[in-house]
Amino acid sequence: MRVLVTGDRGYIGAVMVPFLRDAGHQVDGLDTGLYEGCDLLGGPDPIGSRKPRDMRDVTSAELGGYDAVVCLAALSNDPLGHLNKEATYSVNLEGTLNVAQAAKEAGVERFLFASSCSLYGAAGSEAVAEDAEMFPVTPYGETKALAEKELSKLADDNFSPTYLRNATAYGASTRLRLDIVVNNLTAIAMTSGQVRLESDGTPWRPLVHIEDISRAFLTVLESPREVIHDEAFNVGRSEDVVQVRDIAEMVRDAVPGSALSIADGAGPDLRNYKVDFGKLEDTFPDLRLQWTVRKGVDELAAAYQRHGLTQADFDSAQFVRLRRIQQLLSAGLVDDQLRRQTDDQFPGPGDALFVTTDSVEEKH
Ligand SMILES: NC(=O)c1ccc[n+]([C@@H]2O[C@H](COP(=O)([O-])OP(=O)(O)OC[C@H]3O[C@@H](n4cnc5c(N)ncnc54)[C@H](O)[C@@H]3O)[C@@H](O)[C@H]2O)c1
Repeated sequence: MRVLVTGDRGYIGAVMVPFLRDAGHQVDGLDTGLYEGCDLLGGPDPIGSRKPRDMRDVTSAELGGYDAVVCLAALSNDPLGHLNKEATYSVNLEGTLNVAQAAKEAGVERFLFASSCSLYGAAGSEAVAEDAEMFPVTPYGETKALAEKELSKLADDNFSPTYLRNATAYGASTRLRLDIVVNNLTAIAMTSGQVRLESDGTPWRPLVHIEDISRAFLTVLESPREVIHDEAFNVGRSEDVVQVRDIAEMVRDAVPGSALSIADGAGPDLRNYKVDFGKLEDTFPDLRLQWTVRKGVDELAAAYQRHGLTQADFDSAQFVRLRRIQQLLSAGLVDDQLRRQTDDQFPGPGDALFVTTDSVEEKH
């Protein structure tokens, strides 16, 4: 198939694009390049002469000839959504709908939307299946819920959107993110010897490895239309629905010499949900998700070791999405809607142009 992946230069895209290519598909990318230069061990394949492209501006003329669009592009972070709710709505909702509408006009038959289990929000203690009500507790979660509803209105005989509600991702990528829980706790343990929880560790978190996300997308891409048309799937596996303190214990066990600590006065976290992955398993019996959190922690620890991850990397904008966005904003390289102000390559996160800014990060 000819596939266009939006957001191919991000954390998941850097793993998914080679994964889809290895399966024999012809894959192109489209990305505005917010994280160029924010690389662990070499970064994704070189971008070549491709220009950065904002998905809010894409037209149907650019999408002719594709069999499918995989939409990963987004502001993918709860704290980012709080920093600038309008920008999160503009990219995640308007941008997604613009690409989908353009794809439909161009005759692209499939649209795989990277949705998120965070649209269940404060779902309570029961594991939620796809037909559960959505209770997003952040602007990010709201945009995913609204985008699904609007995409569904575009579904017809010639256009099949599918909503892949990914659990929180983990795993090594050349476009690493340290602002997601497993990657974050493993990095803190390796650079400080502490596995430090800012919440009381009780919240439930469904998790999934980025290669398994790629595996699920590939399966949907190759499945008969009637199986995936206008359907939502939770993407993850039951073994990886864990409490944050379980993750912390796995990290402590995997990183020699590290100790677990809970911040004084730590309380619960609003985001607390268990997810049921039965529909994914039942619909695609041949899909075998292969990773466990424990295996992922070992993979991450080995990648950090190879890279020589230090506290300085950890404190920089390199691997923390919110800090990188704040850099770009304060240098005037993007406007308040996060539109690029130049087609020239952005400076890397360590460039002298950038001053250090405080940031409000996600705490686990
Ligand atoms: N990482 C997770 O834990 C997770 C969990 C559930 C769902 N998801 C979803 O998966 C997708 C990918 O997540 P990720 O972790 O790789 O995020 P990421 O931030 O690493 O990558 C997103 C990519 O989108 C690009 N982008 C942003 N705005 C754009 C725009 N207007 N036009 C074109 N490109 C733009 C960025 O430059 C970046 O390369 C997102 O839709 C996210 O919401 C991620």
